[in-house]
Amino acid sequence: MEKTFLMVKPDGVKRNLIGEIVSRFEKKGYKLVGAKLMQISPELAQEHYGEHKERPFFGELVEFITSGPVFAMVWEGENVISTARFMMGATNPAEATPGTVRGDYAITVGENIIHGSDSPESAEREIGLFFKEEELV
Ligand code: TYD
Ligand code: MG
Repeated sequence: MEKTFLMVKPDGVKRNLIGEIVSRFEKKGYKLVGAKLMQISPELAQEHYGEHKERPFFGELVEFITSGPVFAMVWEGENVISTARFMMGATNPAEATPGTVRGDYAITVGENIIHGSDSPESAEREIGLFFKEEELV
């Protein structure tokens, strides 16, 4: 069964949105198979966002994602990778449709509440970066 990596970013944790976000994916019908509240190290942040290391926003992105605890999750279900991206909304919350997580709860691209893997390859890579096999049920 398909799995994806989702993460409530530090802004979402600070704003007490963990429950709301978990609830959306539960109600949709997906299965939570791993979760933990954690502090991301600068090394893990740079590895996780490695594809963006040449971008001008990379420094701020690493600073932001390490600025407080995140809630890391693995979700399972049919087409969960692309459907979760759809439920998250556009990267820029100004362009995110109401009814999506970013459309409902965020204003700026730098603080857009949630991360989700964008392909089967990134899902596998990101699940492996954040979770040990024995942490998934
Ligand atoms: P990206 O992988 O393009 O977006 P997504 O999170 O939707 O997969 O970018 C990763 C994060 O980098 C994004 O969630 C917020 C941040 N970011 C900026 O701060 N400025 C930008 O111009 C972009 C494109 C992203
Ligand atoms: Mg991305």
